[in-house]
Amino acid sequence: MAISIRTATLDDMASLMDTNLRCLPENYGIRYYLYTLVTWPELSKVAVDPAGRVVGYVLAKIEDERDAKKRHGHVTSVATLDSYRKHGLATKLMRASMRSMVEMYDAKYVSLHVRQTNRAAKHLYSSTLGYTEHKLDKKYYQDGEHAYEMHCKLSRASVGLPELTEESLPLRRKAEEAAAPGEPVAPAVAAAAAAATA
Ligand SMILES: CC(C)(COP(=O)(O)OP(=O)(O)OC[C@H]1O[C@@H](n2cnc3c(N)ncnc32)[C@H](O)[C@@H]1OP(=O)(O)O)[C@@H](O)C(=O)NCCC(=O)NCCS
Repeated sequence: MAISIRTATLDDMASLMDTNLRCLPENYGIRYYLYTLVTWPELSKVAVDPAGRVVGYVLAKIEDERDAKKRHGHVTSVATLDSYRKHGLATKLMRASMRSMVEMYDAKYVSLHVRQTNRAAKHLYSSTLGYTEHKLDKKYYQDGEHAYEMHCKLSRASVGLPELTEESLPLRRKAEEAAAPGEPVAPAVAAAAAAATA
């Protein structure tokens, strides 16, 4: 299967919605997709077939963005179309998003919710990706089912990024400090990270 993984763009919004509607009961309005893709443009990924059709996605965001110590990624939704499952696509989508969370936002960990009975997703998160159960959120879903909130620690090493060098660290800190109050720090941090790894 020649499926490739790439960062989602605004052109993918209709396909994202369509795939989500086919795969999950938790659905979102077009404005939510727009908001997510515009605010955290690097974090959502799509799996596309050779004809360019979306066959899987991960939709993700950053929480506690202004507090560098608490800043973390959050996976809002992930799905693979039925006939493309068990080929490693969700694993690749999740890993790509987790890498961007660290590379672009210096995220310390990533969180998500999963239905207590979702065996496939629990296997993906726990066994394949190393997430652990953080707490049980009772009646989290509209139909009354409980959710596990799961977390996975992130570091540059864990997502396959080289460590920042002695020279790049002050640059990164400067970028964080330079971000105006109320503004996301991501562009400045990303610029520093890019300069550091160039
Ligand atoms: C959960 C889901 C995203 C997995 O997608 P996928 O592309 O099949 O996942 P992968 O192929 O990367 O599989 C990852 C791991 O999960 C395992 N897995 C996949 N489906 C499974 C199933 N039905 N039962 C048990 N394990 C399963 C795979 O064998 C693989 O394990 P391994 O790494 O030990 O070999 C997919 O089943 C799906 O879209 N489900 C509906 C939407 C959904 O539930 N999303 C999650 C919401 S929290």
